[in-house]
Amino acid sequence: MNRLRGELISPEAALHLSEPMARELYKKYQNPGLATMLNLVGFDKTYASASGTVIKDLQGNEYLDFLAGYGSLNLGHNPEKVLEAVEAVSMRPNILQLSINPISAALAHNLALLAPGNLGRTFFCNSGTEAVEGALKLAKAALGKKSIVFCQNSFHGKTMGSLSVTGRKKYRKEFVPLVPNCIEIPFGDAGALEEILKKNSDIAAFIVEPIQGEGGINVPPEGYLRQVRRLCSEYNVLLILDEVQTGLGRTGKLFACEHEDVEPDILCLAKSLGGGVMPIGAFITTEVLWNKAYGGIEKSTLHTSTFGGNTRAAAAGLATIQEIIGNDLPGAAAEKGKYILEKLNSMKENYPLIKDVRGKGLLIGLEFAEPGSLTNKLTGGIAGKLAREYVGSLVAGDLYRQGKVLTAYTLNNPNVIRLEPPLTVSYDEIDKMLQALNSVLKKNSSTFRVALSGIKNVIASKLNS
Ligand SMILES: Cc1ncc(COP(=O)(O)O)c(C=O)c1O
Repeated sequence: MNRLRGELISPEAALHLSEPMARELYKKYQNPGLATMLNLVGFDKTYASASGTVIKDLQGNEYLDFLAGYGSLNLGHNPEKVLEAVEAVSMRPNILQLSINPISAALAHNLALLAPGNLGRTFFCNSGTEAVEGALKLAKAALGKKSIVFCQNSFHGKTMGSLSVTGRKKYRKEFVPLVPNCIEIPFGDAGALEEILKKNSDIAAFIVEPIQGEGGINVPPEGYLRQVRRLCSEYNVLLILDEVQTGLGRTGKLFACEHEDVEPDILCLAKSLGGGVMPIGAFITTEVLWNKAYGGIEKSTLHTSTFGGNTRAAAAGLATIQEIIGNDLPGAAAEKGKYILEKLNSMKENYPLIKDVRGKGLLIGLEFAEPGSLTNKLTGGIAGKLAREYVGSLVAGDLYRQGKVLTAYTLNNPNVIRLEPPLTVSYDEIDKMLQALNSVLKKNSSTFRVALSGIKNVIASKLNS
């Protein structure tokens, strides 16, 4: 029986799809709403190649990628050493669960040598949200308690368990009921944690990002992580640090918890662990906790993942870590981040549109001001609404079109754009980005103008679509 309703596209033909055709297929067969959103900001492009910080479109235009896969490209696009490591295992069985895989065992070994303190047992999965799911389950299984505490404005992923500890209503409300007994507290407030720990003796874990990424690059007060570590130990609650975005050198240390010398009970990793080449996630815990949760033959298959620890992903992880350590990329991130922050802080003096500049290493946020009441009155509130909800993406859109620099707003806070380039970014590329940002800000020196240019773009793209 011929079940085809048309001709199948071969892998070779897919490589040569025209941009309009790719757009049409994406709209028809994937996510039309997202395609429209990308179109509004001018991000609905097809790229032909990518290397390091540079991406090239089909017309040969080059862009600097200061988004870097939302933190998945600490080594930049297509890092050679990672591609080679994956190629080197191409004849090994990639997926063969009923075997002992030396490549994943070696990666777990290396992570144990590098992770803080006694963290030495690793479970491999395929994404950040899966790493978080695994961490939450391990905490419950190890302690036999049922509640989890998490922070307002946090982002831990969008599967049911991770979503249950993600502090943004917009992402949660369609999916209730979520996992029960998840308690939300303010971020950066150790007192709030203590209060809840005093009241509730059924808490298995407190999950927190060392710096909130999607929440808007929020850096907690100094000493916060040390305080929460002390409190968790005092109340026999596990500390889960979600370093999916902050890990692997991003903030100027290999792990962000090293800034405060804090050792979590469970550490979550993903994003850059696969060097931007392979999807891989992991959680790392102590031998004692692992044994409590999953020790012995009987419990050894309570938590599994079909693709977890596959050979190619693990080979990518080994090469990525070698590159990060061998080239001291955490040190490079610290220096380059300091340079960018200094320049941005002086820009802030000149442009009232910039409300705040913050971050650590190469995880940097630029928050934009909302328009004054006069501009709001003049536009019947439209400027206010646009600026509140979209000013980040409007600036990002201008930066992309005029300056050929790719950035994006943070998921939970659309008023903040992130500057999160590969840790290998050059100073020349940084200066180009700063120049581009300066000209965009000069042109749109008020939120009013950004909002207006945004309205014009929205109308123009509506007319074109
Ligand atoms: C801190 C943090 N945790 C978890 C996730 C979820 O990762 P993934 O999208 O790979 O599921 C993200 C993604 O942005 C993240 O920033």
